[in-house]
Amino acid sequence: MPPPFRKHVFICLNERPPESEKGDCTRKGSPELLKKFKAALRARGLDEEIRANKAGCLDNCENGCSVVVYPDAVWYGHVTEADVEEIVEKHLVRGEPVERLRLYKP
Ligand code: FES
Repeated sequence: MPPPFRKHVFICLNERPPESEKGDCTRKGSPELLKKFKAALRARGLDEEIRANKAGCLDNCENGCSVVVYPDAVWYGHVTEADVEEIVEKHLVRGEPVERLRLYKP
């Protein structure tokens, strides 16, 4: 039996106390990103094969909002709501990572 999803989009929803200097992705707007990714996948009928998942800290806090796509091992940083459609359309539909948001290159 094949796995239920062929890709996962992990979106950091970690929260730290307000006094934390490190900050967190939730404060930078990641809950809205999760909603937008889910809606964008649903709108394209892709939500049965690509799953947008809430993640804990991806240890990339200074570059938040952090988003990682697996099994592609593509890490995105400084992702905003305005970037969601581009990531979905370009990367998840057409298979081309969005280079301007990519943190680590193979
Ligand atoms: S809080 Fe999001 S990567 Fe650490």
